[in-house]
Amino acid sequence: MFYIGIFIQLSLSAAVSSFSISYSPRSICAFENSSVEFSCTFDFPYGHTLVVSKWFKPRKDQKQDGSQQGMFVYHTDDAEIHERYMNRTTYANQDKNCSLKLHNVSRKDIGRYFFRFETNYWWGKYTGLGGIDLSIAVLPFRVTVNTQKTNREINEGDSVTLTCNTENCTPTQEAFIWFKNGRLLPKATEQTLRFSSVSREDFGNYSCGLKNSDTTLTTETLLDVRYRPHNVQIINFPSKEIEEGDSLTLNCKSNANPALTNYTWFKISDTNTSYIGYGSKYSLKTVSQKNAGRYLCVAVNDVGSQNSSVIELKVKEHSRLDFLLIATTVLLLGIAVTLIIFCIMKRRKQIASKKLPAEKTSTVTPTEEIYENLRNSLKSEEISTNLTYADLMLPPASSDRPHYSSQEDMTVIYSILSDREETKTIEQI
Ligand SMILES: *[C@@H]1O[C@H](CO)[C@@H](O)[C@H](O)[C@H]1NC(C)=O
Ligand SMILES: *[C@@H]1O[C@H](CO)[C@@H](O)[C@H](O)[C@H]1NC(C)=O
Ligand SMILES: *[C@@H]1O[C@H](CO)[C@@H](O)[C@H](O)[C@H]1NC(C)=O
Ligand SMILES: *[C@@H]1O[C@H](CO)[C@@H](O)[C@H](O)[C@H]1NC(C)=O
Ligand SMILES: *[C@@H]1O[C@H](CO)[C@@H](O)[C@H](O)[C@H]1NC(C)=O
Ligand SMILES: *[C@@H]1O[C@H](CO)[C@@H](O)[C@H](O)[C@H]1NC(C)=O
Repeated sequence: MFYIGIFIQLSLSAAVSSFSISYSPRSICAFENSSVEFSCTFDFPYGHTLVVSKWFKPRKDQKQDGSQQGMFVYHTDDAEIHERYMNRTTYANQDKNCSLKLHNVSRKDIGRYFFRFETNYWWGKYTGLGGIDLSIAVLPFRVTVNTQKTNREINEGDSVTLTCNTENCTPTQEAFIWFKNGRLLPKATEQTLRFSSVSREDFGNYSCGLKNSDTTLTTETLLDVRYRPHNVQIINFPSKEIEEGDSLTLNCKSNANPALTNYTWFKISDTNTSYIGYGSKYSLKTVSQKNAGRYLCVAVNDVGSQNSSVIELKVKEHSRLDFLLIATTVLLLGIAVTLIIFCIMKRRKQIASKKLPAEKTSTVTPTEEIYENLRNSLKSEEISTNLTYADLMLPPASSDRPHYSSQEDMTVIYSILSDREETKTIEQI
């Protein structure tokens, strides 16, 4: 019994130590329709004879530790091979080489693959633990953008990594190619594209793929680098002088991301820079001398701001001189015309007055005579009213004076009242 026990122990330890299977690599990522190779070597103790070699893949609902065999991908007995893997495998079938090539892989092949062999001894059955994981890269490639920031907003200066991925996994055996706005980036050959300090020049659409592959290119991914306004300038500014009274609109333009930009306008005088308005346009309806000076606009977006270069607005003064000239000319012309008209009139009058005497006698009308009479009668009437007035002003005759003496007094009064009418007055009295 003792010897038997030792024998069994020895044979078991010998057997266990020499049964082995090793896989390389342990996981594979492959494109659809490509071929994959599961590299594999195995060993078994001397004296055993290999009877069965098989590759199997547990079904999704089975244990993935190799204890459940699922479907046979390869089997020494062809009849055991699952329909799905028939005619799709190439088995090395060399001494201790269990490598298997699987052709035209698809998403259905995703899973874990195990190699198992069986010898002529009942205990000579062995499965390589761990297996090989197969993933299928489903095209297209896509570019994923990674930053350390949580808000996903990328500003100039940030550190950014672009990664070329497909669904599930990305085959890394081959060199990558990168495109920016459809143009090849010759230096980029890795799966990741790193920007330690991203700039506005890096803004653009990126796509990627494998160098030696006819796999179609990715859909483009925008690397949205946000930057403060730059290239701020006042455009369409007339190079020549502006004339007084003209209208003028200044336009401010910039390149910024986000494009939503607010513009503020400033006027610079010798001592003072003053805010004059906001908006991309600044309009002057009627330019005057006081608008002359230097101007600048400041563009602002979420990221920052930038000043434009300063432009100088010169206002032409001569328009006032023009006005004076025109005014003077008009005035002189007016005077000249008036003078000419005056001369013509005068001349006509002279011609007319030479003919006048002959005509006058014949054209005298009765009305004219009446007026003349009226005027005469008015004159005499005037005098009589004065006389009446004088009469009324006569003081009542003093009762104690004799009548004749009062006549003398009256003469004196009249003389005082009116020297001119003296004689007439005396006559009437
Ligand atoms: C495998 O190939 C054999 C002959 O080459 C053919 O008869 C058989 O139909 C094929 N099976 C499948 C599933 O393609
Ligand atoms: C196993 O066989 C495969 C296919 O025949 C071959 O490519 C590979 O080099 C072999 N591995 C070893 C270790 O001999
Ligand atoms: C590869 O497999 C797909 C189905 O998965 C089949 O339509 C196609 O014809 C196969 N290609 C080759 C070359 O066998
Ligand atoms: C990036 O792609 C989008 C959508 O195709 C397009 O609208 C945009 O103009 C592109 N940008 C550049 C910088 O090419
Ligand atoms: C631009 O700035 C002015 C002044 O600060 C502000 O009143 C105006 O609302 C701003 N416009 C926009 C579109 O942000
Ligand atoms: C600057 O100019 C503005 C308007 O032109 C004026 O209101 C302001 O008082 C000036 N400031 C100084 C310090 O001169």
